Amino acid sequence: MTKMMKAVRLHRFGGPDVLQYEDAPRPTISSDEVLVRVHAASLNPPDLYLRDGYRALPPEWRPSSTFPFILGTDVSGVVAAVGERVSGFRAGDEVYAMVRFPEDLMHGSSAYAQYVSVPASQLALKPLGIDHTQAAGAPMSLLTAWQFLVDLGHDAPNPFQTFRHTPVSLDGKTVLVNGAGGGVGHLAVQIAKWKGARVIAVASGKHGALLGDLGADVFIDYSKVAAETVVKDVDLVLDAVGGANMERFLNVIRPGGALFLVNPLGFAGHTKAVERKITVSTTQVRSNGAQLAKAGRLLDDGTIRVVIDSTYPLAEASAAHQRASSGGIQGKVVLLVS
Ligand SMILES: NC(=O)c1ccc[n+]([C@@H]2O[C@H](COP(=O)([O-])OP(=O)(O)OC[C@H]3O[C@@H](n4cnc5c(N)ncnc54)[C@H](OP(=O)(O)O)[C@@H]3O)[C@@H](O)[C@H]2O)c1
Repeated sequence: MTKMMKAVRLHRFGGPDVLQYEDAPRPTISSDEVLVRVHAASLNPPDLYLRDGYRALPPEWRPSSTFPFILGTDVSGVVAAVGERVSGFRAGDEVYAMVRFPEDLMHGSSAYAQYVSVPASQLALKPLGIDHTQAAGAPMSLLTAWQFLVDLGHDAPNPFQTFRHTPVSLDGKTVLVNGAGGGVGHLAVQIAKWKGARVIAVASGKHGALLGDLGADVFIDYSKVAAETVVKDVDLVLDAVGGANMERFLNVIRPGGALFLVNPLGFAGHTKAVERKITVSTTQVRSNGAQLAKAGRLLDDGTIRVVIDSTYPLAEASAAHQRASSGGIQGKVVLLVS
């Protein structure tokens, strides 16, 4: 008989109200997978894009998903069972992961549930020094900051550019992080500090105090002043916002510096970048258990921390999506799974 669980499923695309908390079959695992009893799952922008059917993309790129399916990539929980070829994890281990991303980009990685199956290679032991809420908040944002700034960690084709993304040395350099209060931004600020950079954080005013606590040397409130009018000779800009006029950051970067675009769609400054000898690069984050284990040491010893914007019970995933859509997130929105 199929075992059941509670999950948040999607039966059609749409606004936050299409998220339905209901019974769903508990996943089974293959020989290389681990069944995780989920304690917490966090929200990321791709969850919102997929819930909405990737409406911002041209029609031919939109998913033709089979309903129902379960959203969510980021989990922290406890190992309930392991496949016969899994050697690194045992029942009872506390673990965290970003699940099957980008493999399941178009039909959900099934993290908004009481149980999720995870390829063992994408799983890491949860840092002991943090709880499940913080650990669930980390994976996608942390792996994004890590793969952009520290180590790409794979040779998979880059869907956005023909060349491999390569992090640059940060020690003694000046790094500007745009969108510094968000999931990716607040971890990127801390990783750049850990790597020895001087960090300029750009966000709305309410994030100023937090970003100072997290180590930012300079804070710019973009609602009062445009960063490109007050900053120059930066070695690297990490833009964790994207959208209109990303090209403006080329004006603050010294020749030989770099502009890393976390959300590159619509960037129109390639010619200017070549003229100014600035490297423009991007990548797509990929699941990676080994990197979560490495970066987890920084979470464990408090070198970096995950800031929690808000938490919601799994049954209130719609409210959590409403919070995430309302903007101005500080850190992560997390679903608590009982
Ligand atoms: N390439 C990849 O693989 C990859 C991976 C992860 C994320 N992403 C993309 O990266 C972006 C950020 O992701 P996230 O998880 O960090 O999102 P998030 O947690 O929602 O954070 C976005 C942040 O941007 C800030 N912001 C909004 N407008 C801004 C502006 N005009 N100037 C400066 N800051 C602004 C927001 O707060 P305030 O307005 O209050 O400052 C918010 O803190 C998303 O577009 C996401 O799709 C890409």
